[in-house]
Order: sequence, then structure tokens, then C-alpha cells
Amino acid sequence: MAAGSTVVSQEIRQEAERLRAELAVHNHRYYVLDEPLISDAEYDQLFRRLVDLETAYPALHDPASPTQKVGAPPLAAFTQVRHTVPMLSLANVVSQDEMQEFHQRVQRGLETTQDIEYVAEPKIDGVAVELVYENGKLAVGSTRGDGVTGEDVTANLRTVRSIPLTLLQPAQPIPRRLEVRGEVFLPKASFRSLNDTRAKAGEPLFANPRNATAGSLKQLDSSITAGRPLDFFCYGVGQIEGDTFASYWELRQALIGWGIKAVPLGRVCPTVEAVFAVCDDLAARRDSLDYDIDGVVVKVNSFALQAQLGQISRSPRWATAYKFPAIQATTTVLDIVPQVGRIGTLTPVAELTPVHIGGVTVKSASLHNMDEIQRKDIRIGDTVIVERAGDVIPYVVKTIPEKRTGRERRFTMPTVCPVCGAQVAREEGEAAYRCTGLACPARLKESLKFFAARGSMDIDGLGEKIIDQLVDKNLVRDPGDLYLLTAEQLAALDRLGEKSAHNLTGALERSKTTTLPRLIAALGIRHVGEATARQLAEHFGDLDHIMQAGEEALQDVSDIGPEVARSVAAFFGQEHNRAVVKKLLDAGVRFPQVETKPAGSLHGQTFVLTGTLASLTRPEAKQRLEALGAKVTSSVSKKTDYVVAGTDPGSKRDKAEKLGIPILNEAELLEKLSG
Ligand code: IVH
Repeated sequence: MAAGSTVVSQEIRQEAERLRAELAVHNHRYYVLDEPLISDAEYDQLFRRLVDLETAYPALHDPASPTQKVGAPPLAAFTQVRHTVPMLSLANVVSQDEMQEFHQRVQRGLETTQDIEYVAEPKIDGVAVELVYENGKLAVGSTRGDGVTGEDVTANLRTVRSIPLTLLQPAQPIPRRLEVRGEVFLPKASFRSLNDTRAKAGEPLFANPRNATAGSLKQLDSSITAGRPLDFFCYGVGQIEGDTFASYWELRQALIGWGIKAVPLGRVCPTVEAVFAVCDDLAARRDSLDYDIDGVVVKVNSFALQAQLGQISRSPRWATAYKFPAIQATTTVLDIVPQVGRIGTLTPVAELTPVHIGGVTVKSASLHNMDEIQRKDIRIGDTVIVERAGDVIPYVVKTIPEKRTGRERRFTMPTVCPVCGAQVAREEGEAAYRCTGLACPARLKESLKFFAARGSMDIDGLGEKIIDQLVDKNLVRDPGDLYLLTAEQLAALDRLGEKSAHNLTGALERSKTTTLPRLIAALGIRHVGEATARQLAEHFGDLDHIMQAGEEALQDVSDIGPEVARSVAAFFGQEHNRAVVKKLLDAGVRFPQVETKPAGSLHGQTFVLTGTLASLTRPEAKQRLEALGAKVTSSVSKKTDYVVAGTDPGSKRDKAEKLGIPILNEAELLEKLSG
């Protein structure tokens, strides 16, 4: 028998078939439906096993095997786009030894024993896209799809703030056609607030930032995508006309010059040892970054050497991905305990059998709310998969019902607050249960933590332990009290020596110089995050006007609907809250005057857009209307001044007709936009 044609036993053949069928199911769940059934680590394990079998037994080769196809077919709802140059995938290594082997393969491929210059940069855990620029203008944006054909998601990609619609014109001339490739992602903080909002609204949560990004790019209505603060990093190009670049690093500089955001933290590494150092450094910094990275991409820097190395199957020989250890693990739920948050929300938290995930011991995980527990059917005693990525707070991905013994218990919400004993109530139409006790110390502690956090008032050193003591000792009854604390009072707290007390006094003092949006956000008004706080500040210009504004006036602010307006008006309607604001200002909290946007020609008018417009996309129309001071909302009501109807308008047009609201066609809209 010739070497290589090893006979494959029935058993091995069956195992490969089983793995292929299983992987096909998971591919569909993951790539098409966005509803994974297993953890990424478990998927990788199955995938690796199949690759191992197929490598060991070449007779198993099958072009239809999931190992031959990375990604999934494009969804029918979007037009398909063929990539000029296929979008490849990367082979990966999981240890320094394997990285060394990669390096040796590169050396062998180039027939050299010399050092190779690499670039090592973070592997962004997002969704791969291609942006085609023609004469410096964004023409088409597509997903990677199966690498050869992707989906046309131009309208959605145009809404990504960091993707330029027009390139900058620096010294380097812009190629006539430039295909930019990179990763779209949702920053961790935005992911958390998106999920918070969804939890409050009782909507299903996204499992991680990558799924949220994929879900956002798959929206047929790009105004939904526009509401998700997606971001983009570029890591390479497809075809580029008149290419004159000698290396990836040189190209990267040119792309940056053209206004494109490149993957940050990359380094040119003259040796493979320098590559190891970057891998260690990035692994250590992983948690502190505001975007998910799942490894380090290592590429040969020189394009001439890349060309010499070529590719094998669907991956280049000149690059590999060093994968970080799994961030998921299996453990058991010891108990489920409700925790009282800032606005009195009772958040069920799972206490877990401690488990190591990516170098950290995880003992608890947020379960978000009662609906989420029911949707995932999480019970006390269950075996669960826990993930730590994308969120500092670990969460339960799913339970493994097969592991149940029958002794598991379902969790029910208590009827009184576990901290202060006040009644717990669930508002109609809300997913959350709330403590109704106004003086609940748990609520106060959470408000103070939120107030002091980075991004709010940024009071360095005012952590949970200190806040707990300040509240328990009755030294602080609201955020304003923080600025009345003396160094002596602080020094008398446990764990806080004179020096730390002194530092904290300094931090408190420094935090008084802030901005109006940060101060508003720090107050922790329901539904008011950073973005809304900024809108409020820019619209009203000063705090007094915001505090005095009624619901009607608040609704004039772009992106503020009735619910947010009600929440802001209710907050400042309370004497107690106004007193806290006064206390803060009296204590010396200061912010620079905010420039209000000058009232545009469409100030005070409310528009609703429906149907497709020929000369501009809906997000563009919205942006241009808002630039002139108009407010653009998504549903038609008596307050709507105009409904703009493109082709194939929806029921909004009918509703406008019924309410007698003027309907504009595209030409009439353009007329309004031109002044
Ligand atoms: S370079 C031949 N650099 O990882 C492909 N890719 O598993 C060259 N990715 O499809 C890709 N961060 O979507 C490169 N800094 C980075 C990356 C990166 C994330 C993604 C990319 C690629 C996938 C491969």
C-alpha cells in the first residue's frame, strides 16, 4: 500500500461524519441565526478534532466539510457582493511553541535562517467587513460572508461613526479604487449599556459584543444600526490600484493618513522574540481595553516576502493568529441572590462554584432579570457555561440541562427588599422588579458608585469599600455630601491611612472641575446615559434650563422620546434631587458653558421618514434634517409635522393620511433641506 493512503477504519469515518454534521448545525446557529448552542471554546474543540482527523487521514478529504468553508452563506435579504480578492481566514497557534513553529515555517518558506520582521497587533473580536472607496468616496461596504461573496450592508456601514464616507486628502495620493478591510465591533461599554436597555425593556440580551455587532449589521433598517455605537478598525486591504507600498506598516501609515482608523497597539517586531513580548503584553492588557480582542495577529511585514510565501487553502502562509486562552468555563450555580441597584432594581446574581476563566477566579455572574432567568431556564444547582469576555461582569451563557439531577430549584423574586425591607414592585410592562424604599442604603451605595465612576465624576480612589463605610456610618446621605467630607473623617475610615485620605481629598477636589454632560450622566437619571446627557447639554446650554424644562420641551431634543422626557422631568421634579444639585454646585462643582446649537431653519419641526429615498439614505436624511434643527422620530403621532414618503412607504404613510399630517415626497424634502 502506498504511503499516505492509510486505510480509514469505519469508526474514524463515522466520527468525522458526526463531527461534520454537528459543526454544520453549530455554524448555522452561530453565523446565520446568531443563536449559538455551545461555547466558542467547545466549538473550537470540535473543529480542531475534525481538522486533526482530516490531516491524519487524507482519504477523509471532502470539499463540503466545514473545515473547507469558513463563515456562512449570505442571507438572502441582502444583495450579494463578490470580493475582488477573496477575504482569507487565519490559521492559529495557541502557545509560544506553536508560534515558534510558525516562525520556522516562514523561515523555511523563504529559505533563510535570518530574523524576519513581523507586525504583531490585536486580533479584534468583531465582524469582518470590506469597504470599497472609489475616488475617495465610500461606494460599497460588505460583510466577509464565505470569503468570496458577502452581503451588501453599505447602508448600515455608513452609519458607523468611525468609517469615513470621504477619505482625507493628505500628501499621499488616494488610489482610484481602494478596498479597505477591517473589523466592525461594539465597544464593551456600549455593549453593556445596550444590554442594560434591553434588559429593562424585557428584550432578549446579546450574548457578547460580537453577536451584538453581527445583529446590528444585519438590520434591514439602517436607522436601527445607527442607534448602535459601532466602531471600526482597519487591518489590511484587498485590491488597491497603483499599489506602491513595500510593507504592511507603510500601508497602515497611508491608511491612517487617509482618515481610516487602524487597529491600535500594533508593533513592528524585528525578531520572533519581540513577537512573544507583544503577545504577553496584549494578553495582560486585554481586560483593560474597551474592545474585545481574542488574540494577536502576527504578519510578515514585507509585502514582497508575503507574496513569496503565498497561501495554503484559505489562509495565508505569512500570518497567523495567536489565540488567547478560552474565556468561558463550566461551573455550577450554588445560589441565586437578588442585589439592589442604583434605582432600586433587584438584579438576580448567580453565586457560582469558583472557577478560573482567563486568569481570574469567577465567583458570581449577573443574571440580569427575571425574564432572562426564565428564558435561559437557569435553576439553583444547575451546571452552566459562564463567559467573562466583553463584560467585566461575567454572565451565564446557557445551562446544561442534561446535567440536572432533579434536585435543582427555581428562583423566585422576594416580595420585600433584602436590604431595607421595603416592598418590591414590578411596574407594568417592565422586566425589572424594584425596591420602593426611598432611603434604601443599597440604592444609595449604588448611586454613589455610579456618581464616582470613571466617565461620571471620575473620583479616583473612591471605591466600593469606602462608599460602603461612608453610607453605613451615615456620613454620606447623597452625592452632594461627598464634597463636605473632611480629611479627618476620611482618615478615620478602615483601610484608609492619612496618605490615602489626603489623595482622596485631592481627587474629590479635582473632580469638581467637570463638564455638564458628565455631571448630568453622573446623577444617574433613568434612561439618561452619556449620549443623552450630551444631547441635553447641547440643546439647553445650561443646567437650569434642563431642570426647568417640561416634558414637552424635553421632547424637542433630538433622540429624546416621551419615555426619556418623562424620566428627566420626573427626576428634576423632585425637591430632593434639586437640593442635591444645589449642594453640588454650592460645593464648587463647575463646568464650562456649553455652546448651544444655533436654531436651524427647521427648528421645532418633527419629521417621520418612511419608504426608500432615491438620492440619499434614511440615516443621511435624518442627519441633514437634524442639522437644520428638525427632530426625526420613528412613529407618527399628532405631534408629527411632516411624513416624508419614499417609494414603498409603510403603514406610517396611511397613519399620516388618517391624522391629516402633510406628506412630502422626495423632491419636497430636498427643497426643505436646501433651506
Ligand atoms: S489580518 C488573511 N489582522 O480575524 C487575513 N485580521 O481569523 C488577514 N481579524 O478574517 C487578516 N483582527 O476578520 C487581521 N488585526 C487583525 C485582525 C484580523 C481581527 C479577523 C479578520 C480575519 C480573521 C481571521
